[in-house]
Amino acid sequence: MKNTFGSALAVTLFGESHGEEIGVVLDGLAPGIPVDGAAIEKKLLLRRPAGKTGSGRREPDPFRIVSGVFGGKTTGTPLCILIPNRDAKSEEYERTRGLARPGHADYAAYLKYHGFEDYRGAGHASGRLTAPLAAAGAIVEGALKAKGIRIGTHIARLDGICDRSFPEDAEELEGAILSLAEKNFAVLDENAGEAMRRRIEEAAEAGDSVGGVLETAAAGIPGGVGEPWFDGVENALSRALFGIPAVKGIEFGAGFGMADARGSAWNDPFRMRDGKIRTVSNHNGGINGGVTNGMPLLFRLLVKPAPSIPREQKTVDFLKGEDAVLAVGGRHDPAILHRARPAVDAVTAMVIYDLLAVRFGIDYFADV
Ligand SMILES: Cc1cc2nc3c(=O)[nH]c(=O)nc-3n(C[C@H](O)[C@H](O)[C@H](O)COP(=O)(O)O)c2cc1C
Repeated sequence: MKNTFGSALAVTLFGESHGEEIGVVLDGLAPGIPVDGAAIEKKLLLRRPAGKTGSGRREPDPFRIVSGVFGGKTTGTPLCILIPNRDAKSEEYERTRGLARPGHADYAAYLKYHGFEDYRGAGHASGRLTAPLAAAGAIVEGALKAKGIRIGTHIARLDGICDRSFPEDAEELEGAILSLAEKNFAVLDENAGEAMRRRIEEAAEAGDSVGGVLETAAAGIPGGVGEPWFDGVENALSRALFGIPAVKGIEFGAGFGMADARGSAWNDPFRMRDGKIRTVSNHNGGINGGVTNGMPLLFRLLVKPAPSIPREQKTVDFLKGEDAVLAVGGRHDPAILHRARPAVDAVTAMVIYDLLAVRFGIDYFADV
């Protein structure tokens, strides 16, 4: 499927950056899930560009839910959220039509859609489409919270500056996840966050952009969720999370850090803890054989630097078939990490919801 993921809960994304509206359809939500407008607004606020660390586009995002909700709760039929596009300045894209932004999707979209694509503001490939994802995430994260499942993402690394890792202790992890929900710039160590913000501003002043790593934890997921081989938890998360623009890598648990390790040191030994089976470490990120083992899910995403930078770069004019140089104008994010974070939480929530609904049925989340 092209713009859809999920099976019991299917999520479809639509729209273009400078088109009339963008939106999302959630098909498969259980009936009776509370829909809290304030929680949706809060998620959109976390994604909104702010200050020197984001693009200058104003994105007030007055969302509308046009179906699937009655009396403040989901009906169980498709739920559609629409968000109008505002403050789109298309002139720059008209001026540079045919000039492929290095690292961006302009040329690939031209190859795929033969020139019929809406190229303004990257069209359908734009990070702008993470707004409806974030909005829908508020509803799904609420449903998971009611089942004791919490998700949090922080900027683990930005241009070489590192945040603290998630704590291993279950209670401390819960506290860390809760603290992130309130933060616009999601870090566990505020000093690291301050240095990261400064680095973004320095890069922007130098006409450049920076990338890094987002780390996500999801606590409270029961064991035994996920299918072996091709519909495992890693498979489902990877497929959906790679849909977020600028995500170029994923690793679960200790990930590539295990490359030079010995099994004796990196296996996760099992122990009884308060009558429950737990592992002492979590190098496998809560997943064994594609299936959850009751430990928190843990993964990291590589988010690349934003491709649109005002420095001159070599490119081609693919309409004229000639070499060119391009210094990208307009308003762009000098870093994507903090702006992608609400979408990462949202997509993670949707995937977990889907896996749980496959395992236990849609009514697992129903208010009955
Ligand atoms: C929230 C968000 C904001 C983004 N903002 C920009 C931006 O301002 N300028 C830009 O060139 N790319 C931006 N991107 C990244 C591009 O959309 C992305 O690099 C492009 O579509 C190509 O996809 P790929 O990097 O996954 O190959 C953003 C991505 C996200 C998730």
